[in-house]
Parts: sequence; structure tokens; C-alpha cells
Amino acid sequence: MASAAGRGEAEQSGTPTVAFRRLRLGILISGRGSNMQAIVANIEAGKLAADVALVVCNHRDAPGLAWAREKGLPALLLERGDYPTREAHDDAIARALSDAGVDLVVLAGYDRILGARLLEAFRGRIVNIHPSLLPAFAGSLHAQADALEYGVKISGCTVHFVTEGEVDGGPIILQAAVPVMEDDTPERLSARILEQEHVIYSRAIQLYAEGRLRLEGRRVRIVEGS
Ligand code: GRF
Repeated sequence: MASAAGRGEAEQSGTPTVAFRRLRLGILISGRGSNMQAIVANIEAGKLAADVALVVCNHRDAPGLAWAREKGLPALLLERGDYPTREAHDDAIARALSDAGVDLVVLAGYDRILGARLLEAFRGRIVNIHPSLLPAFAGSLHAQADALEYGVKISGCTVHFVTEGEVDGGPIILQAAVPVMEDDTPERLSARILEQEHVIYSRAIQLYAEGRLRLEGRRVRIVEGS
């Protein structure tokens, strides 16, 4: 979890140098795909030293899949219904990600819980974003509405590693706080949280790419870049 996946030795005219291979992302989506789009925009803007090696989508009608194809990204539709078991579906996803040489799996609005074999194949190399300040409203599919209904004054979003066990329970990489307004609706609050999601997801991936995330217990320490 701690090291730059793309770090490798290179030599130029006899002088040893350290080269950073760009991080290869495998992005899993189920719907709109705005987080994927923000990540791609940051790559294009040179703010994220990564490339999209593969987009996997599990719903044929997902707008995000159409967007990825339009953009010319390598994109695969792998629907649960085309496989006899959940495990077989998971295996197909793991194989596709491995075949594409993926370093880091990025869940971006993916609506299924990953099975043990997929988690095992990419242990410590899977990240997710959740629209709440975890551990509040973990596992909720409408965390923003839940936050409003609960009456919290500060909401937000969290990027975390995906581990086996509790859903949305993995070590936290980054969070952003979003204050709740008096006249908020779930839609308005969600929109402001989404703006922050689009910022912190790329930032977290960049920290991972730079090998700056060190896991101590369940705490993710952000170390200085070298
Ligand atoms: C986001 O709110 C994300 O936090 C949650 O699912 C939503 C996906 O949105 N996990 P999008 O598909 O990236 O637009």
C-alpha cells in the first residue's frame, strides 16, 4: 500500500536515475461516471501522473460507459447477468484488470461489493470514494440524504482503501468537509459534495502514485515526497 507502483530503475548514459512509470488505473463504474471524468480531466491537465488502462462498467445503459467509449478509453462492459455466479463475474473483472496491467483499481460509483477473489488479487491497490465523512453513513447508497435527515452540520466525502470486511470501512486516505446549509436539499448538498469528490479523488491517486501513502495500523500517513 505504501510504495509507488510505477517506480523502476532506468539508466541513461551510464548515470543511474530513478524513473517513474505512470500509474495504470482500472476504473470501475456503474452509472454517471463524473468522478471518472474528473480523473481523466486531471490526467489531461497534467495534474495526475496516471493513465486509464481500462474502464469496466457493469451496466450497459450507464452514461459513464458511453462517455468512456466516446472518449476512446479502453472500456469493457461486464454485466453480472452474463455470468453464472457472483464469483465468476468477479473473476472476469479481476482477469480483465490484470490483463490490462492495472496498478490501482479505482471504484468510481461502482454499485457492487467486491468479492474476496477480486480483493485478494488487488490487495492494498483498490480505492473508493464515498459521499460522507466516514465512518458516518458508511454503506449507505444515499449518504447525503441520510446526513441531512440526521441533522449533521458538517458533511463531506472520503477517499479510502478498500479492504475485506465492513463496507466503506477501509483506511482513510483523504477527506473533504462540506458544511450543510439551512436551505439544503439532498440534491444541493450532493452537488457541493460532488465538487469536492472531484478534487480529492485525483489528489489521493496522485499521492498513491508518488508512493506517499504509508499505512500504520488503520491510519494512512502522508509522507513527504522524495
Ligand atoms: C459519488 O457520489 C460517489 O461518492 C459514490 O457514487 C457517486 C458516483 O458518482 N460512490 P459518479 O458516477 O462518479 O458521478
